[in-house]
Amino acid sequence: MRIDVLNGVNLDLLGRRDKDVYGHDSLQDLETKVYAWARELGLQVRCRQTNHEGEYVEFLHAALDNADALVVNPAAWTHYSWAIRDALEPFSGPVVEVHLSDVDAREDWRRSSVLEGLTTDRITGEGITGYQRALALLAERRDA
Ligand code: DQA
Repeated sequence: MRIDVLNGVNLDLLGRRDKDVYGHDSLQDLETKVYAWARELGLQVRCRQTNHEGEYVEFLHAALDNADALVVNPAAWTHYSWAIRDALEPFSGPVVEVHLSDVDAREDWRRSSVLEGLTTDRITGEGITGYQRALALLAERRDA
């Protein structure tokens, strides 16, 4: 199972953003762990991050032909980018939405997700281990 792990805007600043909210790990730490977890589960993973909305849309377009499943954290775009929703809509495989922080327990504007109805699972507030759980859920689906 080929999985694209797509991180969005400002997630390249992990480790420098509010550590109480996002933890101490950098994006590189996160990606290193994701690759290790994927190896353990026998999953083929590709991690990508961008600060450009159009590039994130292109990651989603590329996934249509190159990925069987997605783990997405569009970061702030989650809350307002209808372009990202539209780009995800044609993807037919499982999609796990992950947020490091507990978005539902923060500001009101973080409670809504443009991805609602398009995702198979949503994991929030578990920090980096949320990505591990996302991969485990996808491995379970593969094995079902
Ligand atoms: C985030 C939550 C978003 O509200 C925020 O804009 C982010 C990161 C998270 O992983 O907790 O940048 O997606």
